[in-house]
Amino acid sequence: MVEKQLKAMFFNGSPRKNKNTAQMLESAMKGAQEAGAEVELIHLQDLNFKGCVSCFACKRKGNTCGGLCIQKDDLRPVLERILEADVLVAGSPIYWHNSTGMFRNFVERLFFPILSYNNADEHGLIKYLDKKMLCGIIYTMNVPNDYYYNLFHYHEILEPVRVQMEAFFGYCEQLEARNTWQFYPDYSKFDASAVDMEQKQWFRDNQWPKDLLAAYDLGKRLVEKAKEQ
Ligand SMILES: Cc1cc2nc3c(=O)[nH]c(=O)nc-3n(C[C@H](O)[C@H](O)[C@H](O)COP(=O)(O)O)c2cc1C
Repeated sequence: MVEKQLKAMFFNGSPRKNKNTAQMLESAMKGAQEAGAEVELIHLQDLNFKGCVSCFACKRKGNTCGGLCIQKDDLRPVLERILEADVLVAGSPIYWHNSTGMFRNFVERLFFPILSYNNADEHGLIKYLDKKMLCGIIYTMNVPNDYYYNLFHYHEILEPVRVQMEAFFGYCEQLEARNTWQFYPDYSKFDASAVDMEQKQWFRDNQWPKDLLAAYDLGKRLVEKAKEQ
């Protein structure tokens, strides 16, 4: 029997196409490739699209949207391709204590058409689209661990998107890279005297390679799980 070619799609919600989030996604992509998937990386920055415009075409009685946003722009064909994907990994830097605007625009357009406002039956959530997909979310950010948990409570802020992704598609893991290298290539060229460079450099040398490896493992694991389904 011929094994089905699995498809894994990766989305970069950073305007920077080769920095922290992109590098984490590329590492996850290598893992997915190693596990045998066909991979595709989409930089949201390259697409001309907006967030949900509240047209509610996807909520009208008898609508034929099938859980897909009807707005015709660069995102629409990408959303169509997601229907064929077995694995989806979406990455974003943290901008002002949440994912970037373009990441949220993407999530609005992906999620909202799937959600039904009809009463749930005993099986739970009613969806316009019944699609199983192994999902991952990767966040990169400046804050170190202590700020992440205790000062800014990012674990609480970020969790609902992961939970929603899992509710819609069946499975979603989250990975974070904290205290990333923001000013490439050299902090000394920037106004950044408040940055603890000793800590920054330590994270760069010791934690960042582990973060990249964790991203690789995530990509590989998701494809391997997809094979089991
Ligand atoms: C506009 C802006 C806002 C940011 N806000 C935060 C923030 O609230 N918390 C944080 O931890 N990092 C923040 N950062 C830092 C980025 O999240 C971090 O450098 C990230 O790894 C950048 O990802 P990239 O290299 O893929 O662009 C901000 C960066 C920018 C440019």
